[in-house]
Amino acid sequence: MANILVVGSMNMDIVTKVERHPFPGETIQGNATTFYIGGKGANQAVAASRSGAFVTMAGALGTDSFGMDISKRLAEAQIELGCVVRKPVMTGIALITIDQAGENNIILSAGANEAYGEADVDKLELLEYDIILLQNEISSAAITRVLDRAAEANIPVFMNPAPIAGFDADQLRKVSFLILNELEAEELSGIRIQDINGARQAAKQMLEEGIPHLIITLGSKGSLYMDQAGMHVEMPAFTVAVVDTTAAGDTFIGAFAAKYAEGVEIKESLHYATAASALAVSAAGAQSSIPTEEQVSAFLASVKF
Ligand code: RIB
Repeated sequence: MANILVVGSMNMDIVTKVERHPFPGETIQGNATTFYIGGKGANQAVAASRSGAFVTMAGALGTDSFGMDISKRLAEAQIELGCVVRKPVMTGIALITIDQAGENNIILSAGANEAYGEADVDKLELLEYDIILLQNEISSAAITRVLDRAAEANIPVFMNPAPIAGFDADQLRKVSFLILNELEAEELSGIRIQDINGARQAAKQMLEEGIPHLIITLGSKGSLYMDQAGMHVEMPAFTVAVVDTTAAGDTFIGAFAAKYAEGVEIKESLHYATAASALAVSAAGAQSSIPTEEQVSAFLASVKF
C-alpha cells in the first residue's frame, strides 16, 4: 500500500446554489446552503485514501467547532491526523457558489491554513513516505520548507499550484510532478490554452524549464501527460451529467497519486483518475463527491472508453 503525506489545507466549504453567479455589486437569491468538508489538501487526501493509499494529513485547523468537525470527518475517512496542528485562529473557510451548470466560484478565507509554518514542517518525519502532495493553500514559507526538506530526503513532491494567485514559480525547481489545470498552466507558461494544441505547447515549454513530469487537466477535454523521458499521453474525459465541479481536480490528483505510488503505470493511473473525477463532478460537494476505488471500478466496468 502506498504511503502518502499530504501537506495542505483543510476548509469548511459553505456552498450556496444559485441560478447564476452575481455580477459585481448585485444581490441575488441563493437556493440552498450546505456545509461540506473541503480544502484542496484535505480533498486530495480523501481521494488518495479512497483510492487505496495510506494517507497522513499535515496542516492546521483552528480551535473552533469547524476544526473539530473537519478532524472528525477526516478520521472517519481513514486519514491519519497525527501531523495536524491546532492554531488559535479560525479554521479555513471557503465560500462557494454553484450555478445551474455546476460551475463554481470560490472565495477563500485561509485562517489556520496560513498559520501553518516552517516550524510545523520541521516536525514532519518525511522519510516515512513514498510521495508528498502539496498545493498552494498554505503559507508560502511552509511550501518552500516542504520542498527543501523533501529534496534533501529525496522524496518526490507532486505539486498542484492551486490556487495559482500568489504562487511563486521559483518553487517549481524542486517539484517532481506538476499537476495543474489549463488556467494555471496558462499563468505559468504564458501560453494561451484554448485547445489540446495550446496545452501541448504549454507542457513542452514547462518541460524545457526542467519540470520532470507534468499533467495538465483540461476539464471536459480530458488531460495531457508529458515527461522528460519523452512519454506523451492524452487521456479523453468521460461524458457525464455535471452536478458540481468542486474538488474534481483534487479527486483527479489524489486518485492519480495513489495509483502511481502503488506502482500502476502512467496511462492506467490517468485512466483511473479520469474516471474518479468524472464521478466527482456527478455528485454535490467536495469530499462528499469523492468516489471509492470500488465505485471507480464499477464505473469503469459500466462504460465503454
Ligand atoms: O478544490 C476545491 C476546494 O477549493 C474546495 O473544497 C475549497 O475548500 C477550496 O479550497
